[in-house]
Amino acid sequence: MKILTLLGGARKKGSTATVAGWIESELQSMGHEVESIPLQNKDLKGCLACGKCKEVTETVGCIQKDDAIEILDKMVAADLVLFTSPLYFWGLAGPLKTLIDRTFSFYVNYHQPGHASLVEGRRQALLVTGGGPYKNNAEPVFTAFDRLQGPHMAIKSGELYIGGCKTRDDLSEKQKEQAVEFARKIVG
Ligand SMILES: Cc1cc2nc3c(=O)[nH]c(=O)nc-3n(C[C@H](O)[C@H](O)[C@H](O)COP(=O)(O)O)c2cc1C
Repeated sequence: MKILTLLGGARKKGSTATVAGWIESELQSMGHEVESIPLQNKDLKGCLACGKCKEVTETVGCIQKDDAIEILDKMVAADLVLFTSPLYFWGLAGPLKTLIDRTFSFYVNYHQPGHASLVEGRRQALLVTGGGPYKNNAEPVFTAFDRLQGPHMAIKSGELYIGGCKTRDDLSEKQKEQAVEFARKIVG
């Protein structure tokens, strides 16, 4: 399977990148092709809501020419996209949220006859790490992710929350096992 990991965390050696690395290692050992894109230093402009992308059905029709275009094309070409992010104020980190907004360009006619999407049938999975003490800490993010597959016509293949981490030193062996198990699940 061709797998694309989107790294939403700013810290190259942070908890999110560490857990994503464990997932990627397991996927590679299973024979999958994995490409990982750190989003932090990419030029990602916010969606203009201009609707120009809705006039194009065969390609990503966004009129903004920044780094998002190449990443969106890679998302279309992948069998599975693994979205990863630290929890920032109970939401996704900015660069990943901005990129997801730009996936507005993937589909046409949502909730109407003729609904079509460039990522129809592709798999999507989400990893979130967080440090806070709240129960159901990442609930809003997982609810939003669950709805994303509607307009995208994609398939959710898994979601994983790794809590209690301020730095990657807080990560436990048990969480590593969870990450490995998650990797097997999302391609299963
Ligand atoms: C700006 C900012 C906002 C944060 N907001 C939350 C939050 O709402 N809930 C939470 O549990 N942790 C929050 N945290 C903690 C991080 O989500 C947590 O430490 C995460 O594992 C960091 O990932 P990283 O090491 O990949 O950067 C926040 C951290 C920062 C810097």
